[in-house]
Amino acid sequence: MSDKRPALIQPHVHPLPDHRPLRDAFGCFATGVTIVTSFDRDGNPVGFTANSFTSVSLDPPMLLVCPGRNIRSLPAIRHSGLFGVSVLSAGQRGVADCFASRREDRFGEGEWVESESGLLLLEGACANFACTLVQDVDAGDHQVLIGRIDSFRSAENRHPLMFVRGGYL
Ligand SMILES: Cc1cc2nc3c(=O)[nH]c(=O)nc-3n(C[C@H](O)[C@H](O)[C@H](O)COP(=O)(O)O)c2cc1C
Repeated sequence: MSDKRPALIQPHVHPLPDHRPLRDAFGCFATGVTIVTSFDRDGNPVGFTANSFTSVSLDPPMLLVCPGRNIRSLPAIRHSGLFGVSVLSAGQRGVADCFASRREDRFGEGEWVESESGLLLLEGACANFACTLVQDVDAGDHQVLIGRIDSFRSAENRHPLMFVRGGYL
């Protein structure tokens, strides 16, 4: 039986003409899908779709998300020092699409509840977290935002929305 594996790509030796091969490799890792929210200096809610969510620590409770450096919500998260994460359930694909689109009135999609700290969290999600930003780490064309979890809830009986190879499962 032959095992013809593709050659390993070394992007630091031969810069790639585009990011497709690396995107494809990253995309093999199946993830859930979240909506990251915050509010700007005028109190207007902001948010975007993110699958770069990772649980980090139980004690103290911490998580991370990685917004691109040009994500419009990033200045708001930095200014407020707060962000929310809602882990989408299987029926919430429309919310994921909306918060990844150019639509301005993103919060018109889905039902939202306000946390004690003023963050909008999605109703019907598998889990919600309200966080305080504790570390903001430069990482190439993205930032690693680490949050301390101030409050959270989860619903055991909901199936999560899944994302792999550029599509939803
Ligand atoms: C499933 C999915 C996951 C995404 N994950 C991220 C992510 O982790 N980080 C990121 O910066 N953008 C991510 N995006 C892209 C942003 O949601 C998208 O660029 C959004 O429009 C950014 O918000 P903005 O237009 O307000 O800057 C993801 C998009 C989709 C559909």
